[in-house]
Amino acid sequence: MKIEVMADYAALSERAAAIVAESIRRRPDAVLGLPTGSTPEGFYSALVRTGVSFRKVQTFNLDEYIGLRKEHSQSYYSYMRTHLFDRVDLPPQSIHIPDGMTPDVAAECRAYEAGIRQAGGLDVVVLGLGLNGHIGFNEPGTPWTSRTRRVALTDATRQANARFFGSIGAVPREAITMGIGTILEARRVILLASGESKADIVRRTVAEAPSEAVPATALQRHENVTILLDRAAAAEVPQVAFRSER
Ligand code: F6R
Repeated sequence: MKIEVMADYAALSERAAAIVAESIRRRPDAVLGLPTGSTPEGFYSALVRTGVSFRKVQTFNLDEYIGLRKEHSQSYYSYMRTHLFDRVDLPPQSIHIPDGMTPDVAAECRAYEAGIRQAGGLDVVVLGLGLNGHIGFNEPGTPWTSRTRRVALTDATRQANARFFGSIGAVPREAITMGIGTILEARRVILLASGESKADIVRRTVAEAPSEAVPATALQRHENVTILLDRAAAAEVPQVAFRSER
């Protein structure tokens, strides 16, 4: 894993955007795996500012809540429209987000996996990091062979996301998420973490022995992972050779 420590959130966002924009310039029909949440908001703004064309790009989001209509203000579809899709020239038919209202979740998940395969696999997947180490909505204990599927959200994750819904009771209890196995097949992985609240789980992700108890440690097994941190999130990372300050 390559760890890059940026001065602050703005620099982290710019760096992530530069990496993804460069991937798209090199391969205009790049297939991207994309996150939601607070952390990537600056990344999306910076990516839009690069002016790179999404005309041939395909996107697959990591996850979506079950039971929220696309139009719901807190659906990940709405989030993506606000932060990226309505701001770039990505054709609507190139957007893929699991349908949280599908009557047949298992079929939706199979079709999602097939869609990724048909697109040629994920070139770059960008991830946020949950306080409990989740990536996508793969909560602690998830097998690393897992594929896109229905998952129950932990209370900790629902609590962490209650800020978007006003109360924990309004946070959906289930989601559809890409699996860890799906994520590990991406050709390149970029993990973003910002702020002191992430410092401990960042340390565990990079410095602890890989274990299903911390899903993000699965990334230690991937050969092309870049971890982008701001100083606050990097505060507990041991000073080891692979850490580079910018
Ligand atoms: C979102 C996702 C989650 C978040 C994680 C961190 O699509 O898959 O894994 O990346 O919960 O969220 P923030 O950035 O809000 O701290």
